[in-house]
Amino acid sequence: MKVIIAENYQQVSSLAADVIEQVVRQEPECTLGLATGSSPVGMYQELARRCREEGLDFSKVHSVNLDEYVGLEPTHDQSYRYFMDDNLFNHINIDKANTYVAKGVGDVEENLREFNAVLDKADIAVQVLGVGPDGHLGFNEPGETLYDGAHKEVLDESTIDANQRFFASRDDVPRYAVTMGMGNIMRARKLLMVVSGKKQEAMKALLLSDRIDPKCPVTFLRLHRDATVILEKSLADEIGYKG
Ligand code: GLP
Repeated sequence: MKVIIAENYQQVSSLAADVIEQVVRQEPECTLGLATGSSPVGMYQELARRCREEGLDFSKVHSVNLDEYVGLEPTHDQSYRYFMDDNLFNHINIDKANTYVAKGVGDVEENLREFNAVLDKADIAVQVLGVGPDGHLGFNEPGETLYDGAHKEVLDESTIDANQRFFASRDDVPRYAVTMGMGNIMRARKLLMVVSGKKQEAMKALLLSDRIDPKCPVTFLRLHRDATVILEKSLADEIGYKG
């Protein structure tokens, strides 16, 4: 696992954009695995700038997203489909028909069949990841066991707490989500984790321990052959990680 310590969030975002840019330039028809949350927003802004000003070309790129809330229409401003359009797809030359965010409304079982079919066919060149304060990846919440494929999750109370800042009230935060499983994530050829915010406990488990723990899903990154983690120096200092 490669760990990069950046001076600040802006540098996290630009180093992460470098990784994506390299993949897209080498493989213009690649499939990107994408993530929501505030951590990758700066990277998406930088990619949009490079598309606009430097000709970074997404016209043949496909994408598939990690997860979606159950119960939110794609037009809801907190749905992950809306987030992706708003933060990235509307600002780059990707063909939206080639972007996939799982459906959050309708028949959940049917939506999961479709999501798994998309994932079975996808060869994800690089999977972008954030991390939840409890160590969740996508919406793979801590547990005794983890899932291989796409499935429905009950969100942990701590996840609802963390995500309520995006909603009018805590009651408005969906209780369920559909998410790629850990197997889907681990089968991506490359993993790119961008870390920002209050992630001390998750980062301690990942960077200061040798244990792989389903109660902290982010620790599975250690098993991947090509995983890169980018975090700010202030967070590394706070947990006493020297690199
Ligand atoms: C949500 C998403 C995760 C994301 C996490 C952290 O729970 N499902 O994919 O990593 O939020 O978000 P943030 O980057 O806003 O801290």
